[in-house]
Amino acid sequence: MTIETGKIVENTTVGKNVFRLTIELPDIAANAVPGQFCEIKINDTVYPLLRRPFSVSDVEGSFVSFLIEVKGAGTEMLARKKVGEELNVIGPLGRGFNIEDDFETAVIVAGGIGVAPFPFLLKSLSASVEVFSYVGARTKAQIINSELENISIATDDGSSGFHGNVVELLANNIERFNSSKIKIFGCGPIPMLAALKKFSLQNDINCEVSAESNMACGIGLCQGCAIKSAESEGYLLVCKDGPVFNIKEVDF
Ligand SMILES: Cc1cc2nc3c(=O)[nH]c(=O)nc-3n(C[C@H](O)[C@H](O)[C@H](O)COP(=O)(O)OP(=O)(O)OC[C@H]3O[C@@H](n4cnc5c(N)ncnc54)[C@H](O)[C@@H]3O)c2cc1C
Ligand code: FES
Repeated sequence: MTIETGKIVENTTVGKNVFRLTIELPDIAANAVPGQFCEIKINDTVYPLLRRPFSVSDVEGSFVSFLIEVKGAGTEMLARKKVGEELNVIGPLGRGFNIEDDFETAVIVAGGIGVAPFPFLLKSLSASVEVFSYVGARTKAQIINSELENISIATDDGSSGFHGNVVELLANNIERFNSSKIKIFGCGPIPMLAALKKFSLQNDINCEVSAESNMACGIGLCQGCAIKSAESEGYLLVCKDGPVFNIKEVDF
């Protein structure tokens, strides 16, 4: 983990209220693995006080990209940053996806801004792995252009692709996978992760997901990001034990 200040080289709109922010961060770029995140300091001013966490979306040479949806004050300020301005970033943080498992088919399941970690994951998978991407959004306007492979779309209102949620679409499509060695990689809102857990357990498919919770320190000190463990009475820290978990570990 390093603290690095780097120049913004890109800030481009890629969807409704979503932008890609690319920063020159050579140390973080050299050390990040897919699924890890960074904490970005929004301003030199006191407000907003806390850094904001974002998944590493892609790494190209010494450049790190983030896909960011505007939610509140911090993300609004980031959206207005200009190329050439500098940002202070801590990373890479947390536990990433395990791509060393024995699988021949990777199934990416993303809801909304949950597409963010997957361009980097895709790039890191072995060329022999077949990839299917399932992308869900509330409406067609909210589908994010995320440069994934072999994309099937689900929208809640049926305005694009399958009419329904992305896990229902995946369940309808399960016979299309050529190999029985499948691994699912998921990221999205909690109800999607809960549905994905049920689906993966019922079908006995290995599944890892990137989870979210509100964060403060980002390094395991404040306990602010705790989520309930499915395997004990205790809690897991999203920033330190995750953000990537085997789906069996978490009580969604
Ligand atoms: C490990 C991790 C990775 C993340 N990766 C991404 C990413 O790649 N792209 C992206 O757009 N967002 C990502 N997020 C969520 C992002 O950090 C929040 O949307 C952001 O911090 C909101 O900051 P804000 O100042 O704009 O909003 P705030 O003013 O802080 O909050 C505005 C609204 O957003 C909600 N919110 C705040 N934090 C979170 C959160 N962590 N998760 C969900 N809702 C939140 C608040 O409850 C509130 O309703 C990630 C979060 C975590 C924990
Ligand atoms: S954010 Fe502080 S312990 Fe996770």
